[in-house]
Amino acid sequence: LSHAPESPQHPDSASAPGAPRADARWLEAFHPFTRLNRLLADVEPGGAGSPLNLALGEPQNQPPGIAAIEIARRADLWYRYPPLDGTAEYRHACTRWLERRFGIPEDLVDPATQVVPCPGSREALFFAALVAVCNRPEVARPAILVPSPSYHVYAAAAAAAGAEPLFLPALNETGFLPDLAAIDPEVLERTVLAFFCSPANPQGAVADLGYLTNAIRLAREHGFVAAFDECYSEIYGDAPPPGALQAAAGLEEGTGQVLVFHSLSKRSSAPGLRCGFVAGDPVQVARLRELFKFGGAGVPLPILYAGARLWNDDDHVEVNRRRYRDNFDAADDLLGRHFGYRRPDGGFFLWLDVGDGERAAQELWSRAGIRVLPGAYLVPPGTAHGSEAARYVRVALVHDLRQTQSALRAMVDVLE
Ligand SMILES: Cc1ncc(COP(=O)(O)O)c(C=O)c1O
Repeated sequence: LSHAPESPQHPDSASAPGAPRADARWLEAFHPFTRLNRLLADVEPGGAGSPLNLALGEPQNQPPGIAAIEIARRADLWYRYPPLDGTAEYRHACTRWLERRFGIPEDLVDPATQVVPCPGSREALFFAALVAVCNRPEVARPAILVPSPSYHVYAAAAAAAGAEPLFLPALNETGFLPDLAAIDPEVLERTVLAFFCSPANPQGAVADLGYLTNAIRLAREHGFVAAFDECYSEIYGDAPPPGALQAAAGLEEGTGQVLVFHSLSKRSSAPGLRCGFVAGDPVQVARLRELFKFGGAGVPLPILYAGARLWNDDDHVEVNRRRYRDNFDAADDLLGRHFGYRRPDGGFFLWLDVGDGERAAQELWSRAGIRVLPGAYLVPPGTAHGSEAARYVRVALVHDLRQTQSALRAMVDVLE
């Protein structure tokens, strides 16, 4: 477990001691893509073809045409503000998908009280930290547990909420997921929220049902909210990764203390649509709604209608999944023995041990025009185990098969 480096606290700071002050300087020093832009700013891209961005997890497939058709059909609704709760149709589509995808019983999630739409999962994850801190005023030094390395939004959300982000190493030694048994009991007592991510960005590890069950038990025992980011749950090889609601279904207290975050960004290759939802514990969903009322963007009505069509359709998701499988088959062939390669259980990232991630990113850019993200950038600067993450690069296999193959060949040529 490692603490964030402390930045100087203003005397009137309301944040917990040990919490980094999420000021502009800290955010800039941490933001992965700002760091990457800085690293490569003075380096000309090399290689024969156009530069290729494998740093960003942005699907390059098109979403299915039904989305655009539905948005055009509902164009008369742009004049309306997005309703906080979306539409009953949207919430039903989300609930039915949860039931199909995770095999949960029909009575586990009530679409009226346990589902709230959000414009992609990012905003909702950020809000979850604020909500958790706001609702536990009795906790003097609130902590938020963050897998590390991980999606940068968790740590920034914790810091912005005035909580201390506590980083749980999720590297080789622990199977690329945080070791729940290793968390200091003192920390658990002041934890208000824990972020979990499965399939994990960047590691591609998948938490099994036992792990998810333990995470939920821990949250209940210590009274914190367990926030499961499952936005990659539809991108997998052979076996669909289990979800936290599946684990909750097997426990007493139903969805108590559990929130799951889902999005069409990866499932439907539609990150520009900004369409997702949060589901779970009705008390926690209601608390999230309360804060969305003040600061949430909401999801516009034409997009909610398109979103409902997408959640109701599984065929395009299978086509999408096949593209990623083809890319990973290519990675099996081309990377098999290099960089500690392991085919991820889910998601679309490779997490490769290249020895020095920053140097590899510079080399790949200058010699092959390939942009990858140094693993160190998914950990706030100065975090204790950051040097281990610094050995890695994250590579997003979001391009078509031909581009992916040529990028992977170039990676082996440049780095070996
Ligand atoms: C782990 C993880 N969670 C959440 C998000 C946010 O995605 P969106 O807001 O598009 O749903 C991303 C995006 O890359 C991600 O990698």
